Amino acid sequence: MLTPVIESERLVLDSVVPADASAVFHYCQDEDLQRWVPIPRPYSSADAEAYVTDYAGHARSSNEALLWAIRVDGTFAGVIELRLEAVRSATVGFWLGRPWRGQGLMSEALQTLAEFAFEPDGLALDRIHWESVVDNIGSAIVARRAGFHFEGTMRASLVHRGERLDSWQASLLSTDSRIPGDGWPL
Ligand SMILES: CC(C)(COP(=O)(O)OP(=O)(O)OC[C@H]1O[C@@H](n2cnc3c(N)ncnc32)[C@H](O)[C@@H]1OP(=O)(O)O)[C@@H](O)C(=O)NCCC(=O)NCCS
Repeated sequence: MLTPVIESERLVLDSVVPADASAVFHYCQDEDLQRWVPIPRPYSSADAEAYVTDYAGHARSSNEALLWAIRVDGTFAGVIELRLEAVRSATVGFWLGRPWRGQGLMSEALQTLAEFAFEPDGLALDRIHWESVVDNIGSAIVARRAGFHFEGTMRASLVHRGERLDSWQASLLSTDSRIPGDGWPL
């Protein structure tokens, strides 16, 4: 599916392109990103090339996922994606390069993307699912701020770096208010 361009106050979300490879390679050296996101470790420049060509290309040519680059004044800062599931539902995933964190950028990206995803003229989704490895506080704060409802901990539900780990689960429905949700273990 072609990547729709989405804009917010500070961000433009658009396609991941081959020219993003060096930034992807650089950002994916970060320990926190490697800790929480199932990217290869060590992360090579070939991994970055494959991500911006094969993975991004597959997202564009299939109906399985939508992948956006997050750009600030035209500079690649990170990515956000929706992995599409049956019947108007998707799982969100995201990361930012370290220099861009702590400025509310991912909160802005997620809130903007969710509005687009629920619009009848956008993706007309009913539900967005979020999950993380337990204790990914930064990711959970972003989801809570966007109004996601915490749904619990699933035991041994994620296989991450060869280990079975517990995961936090949450969702946002098109009918939910966007008020930060209660019940989060934060
Ligand atoms: C998670 C991530 C996307 C958040 O992006 P961000 O733009 O920094 O998020 P925001 O600034 O919108 O909000 C994050 C908030 O969490 C806080 N936070 C982040 N990590 C934290 C931690 N370990 N403990 C407590 N608070 C934390 C930040 O201080 C910020 O709060 P503030 O706005 O009150 O200062 C970014 O940290 C990242 O890319 N992490 C590595 C990859 C990752 O974990 N992806 C998610 C996988 S599920």
